[in-house]
Amino acid sequence: MRKFLVLLALVALTATSAHAAVRTVGKGDSLRFDPSSIPVSMKGHYDIVRARCVKCHTLERTVVAVQTGVAPISGQPFDHKATKAYGVKMLRKPDSNMSKAEVKAAVELLNYLVDEAQR
Ligand code: HEC
Repeated sequence: MRKFLVLLALVALTATSAHAAVRTVGKGDSLRFDPSSIPVSMKGHYDIVRARCVKCHTLERTVVAVQTGVAPISGQPFDHKATKAYGVKMLRKPDSNMSKAEVKAAVELLNYLVDEAQR
């Protein structure tokens, strides 16, 4: 019986960590983060990402990077260092049309999501 309970606890633990992954809706080009998995304090950040980070490519790229922890094009780890570096890169692109404050908000949200996806 005790063995069975330990097993049950282990199964429950694994199941919980699988569920901690960031929820998404849609697929392919319409793949995006499920708004219900974005905390209220970050809704504004998500509005910025949804408006600005889809100018040159769809959100799929960003979702894949967050969920797998790997940047899909470079194959580099997508961690806090990468979100910041990527934010700076965006800021420098003349056609990204993003302000410093918007990039900061986007990076904050990405960091939150990266942490959530890895829990
Ligand atoms: C001005 C156009 C443009 C905008 C705006 C833009 N991107 Fe990109 N993004 C690119 C290009 C071009 C690439 C591919 C190569 C590169 O990294 O420059 C890319 C690649 C990526 C990658 C994959 C990086 C890799 O190394 O695999 C991610 C993740 C990403 N973008 C997320 C975002 C996020 C988040 C935003 C909003 C903050 C954003 N993009 C806004 C042009 C853009």
